[in-house]
Amino acid sequence: MSDEPKLLESGPPAKWNRRSAFILAAIGSAVGLGNVWRFPFVCYENGGGAFLIPYLFAIITAGIPLLILEFSLGHKMASGAPLSFFKARRNSEWVGWLMVLVGFVITAYYAVIMSWCFNYLFQSFSLGWGDDPGGFFTDKLLHLSSGPGELGGLNWPLVAGLALTWIWIYFCIRKGAKSVGKVVLVTVPLPWLLLLILAIRGGTLEGAGAGLNYFLNPDWSKLLDPGVWLAAYGQVFFSFSLAFGVMITYASFLPRKSDINNNAVIIGLSDAATSFLAGLTVFSTLGFLAVGSHHTVAGVMESGPGLVFAVYPTILNQLPFWPGFFAAIFFIMLLTLGIDSAFSLVEASAEAWVNKLGLKRKPVLITVCVIAFAFGLLFATDGGLWWLDIVDNFINKFGLILGGLFECIVLGWLYGARKLREYANRDSEIKIGRWWDFLVKYFTPAILVVTFGMDLVKTVTEPYGGYPDWALFAGGWGVVAAVFVLSFVFMRIHANKNRAPAGEQGGGTGE
Ligand code: PFF
Repeated sequence: MSDEPKLLESGPPAKWNRRSAFILAAIGSAVGLGNVWRFPFVCYENGGGAFLIPYLFAIITAGIPLLILEFSLGHKMASGAPLSFFKARRNSEWVGWLMVLVGFVITAYYAVIMSWCFNYLFQSFSLGWGDDPGGFFTDKLLHLSSGPGELGGLNWPLVAGLALTWIWIYFCIRKGAKSVGKVVLVTVPLPWLLLLILAIRGGTLEGAGAGLNYFLNPDWSKLLDPGVWLAAYGQVFFSFSLAFGVMITYASFLPRKSDINNNAVIIGLSDAATSFLAGLTVFSTLGFLAVGSHHTVAGVMESGPGLVFAVYPTILNQLPFWPGFFAAIFFIMLLTLGIDSAFSLVEASAEAWVNKLGLKRKPVLITVCVIAFAFGLLFATDGGLWWLDIVDNFINKFGLILGGLFECIVLGWLYGARKLREYANRDSEIKIGRWWDFLVKYFTPAILVVTFGMDLVKTVTEPYGGYPDWALFAGGWGVVAAVFVLSFVFMRIHANKNRAPAGEQGGGTGE
């Protein structure tokens, strides 16, 4: 490898204007659709109330320590993910690109899910999904084809919602930290408020108690199952937006003197609290549905899109008063929950290219948005949901886990956990001890290796979702392989040579 620096800086990036702007933006990224449609289900499936123990354990041993790791790296190197890795260890730049690319793939379909939300919002006041919300979702809205082999044409209402989502994303992050800092003042508290309104509505419905009982009734025997503990780690990783380059990028916009450890604790616990509140809301409302339909709560439980776009609208139909109003609140909540997660991923990509090419932010951002929109069109076809499901499963399982693993290896071992710990402690009120090095170097990588091994065996032995092999190769293994290959290709691209070589930010104090 030549000695010539490949990644160079491109002028001073905008900084957060207040500490709360950073905290809110990071919470906004962490709190997303995953809190509403993933956490309640994962919790219920893995021991109900008893799951809170492995979940808290995963937060303390991996979630918050890795937030500290990413914040220290981004803050110290004052750059997006690839440049931060480059500064830490020259030939590890690809790890940063890997994270950014995984995030890019996720945004492409995350934006399509937001397009579904827009379409539902337009139907809300008239409860336009009628008596059969499940049928409305798959037939009327998605025109779902018979399988991934039948792509069909573009679905125009979805394309329109997708375009709207991308325009919204663009305007939110147009001015980087400056505009994001303003947007999150609305997009973080508003969904909380709406979730609270829905929690109160759900909690006062008939059957709520039975639903909550399902959610929280502890099954202690589950704690003996290692799969339950791994599920807790998987949930924490996705929910904390770890290993996507987002937290590294956001921390790079912090002023020099910043309390990294405290920020990580506040952000982690806020995300966990939101998940818990979402669990209460979802399950109390499911209890109401179970009573009305004479089913058990388990019988009406679904996770993923089914919960939000079929089960929830069924419940909204049956609300005793103002169903249209609560429907609109529900979909506005989802949109405002999702938007800051979506734009955080775009910001991570845009910042990576601004660093690399030394170009102005605006053209880079527009290009990233347009390419992601174009890629997302695949998911806005009649066969789109099948592809979304395949890509989501593989990229989250393999891209995310491997990204996290390489991150721990490069930063914990090659760069040195101790250096980052000392850096994090410099301006932090709570000091972390040597145990943190152990978690980053041994513990979290071990968990990730075991999870990876188990997922790999499972995926090889039973084809995911019963899809044909060719579809799993194209949308699953193919996308994961492409993300890896592109990480190395992007690393090899020559950075803008006209600028000063990038050095790491040594000081933690004073500008
Ligand atoms: N944490 C988000 C959620 O729980 O929905 C999803 C997400 C956003 C993952 C941003 C990764 C990311 F970088």
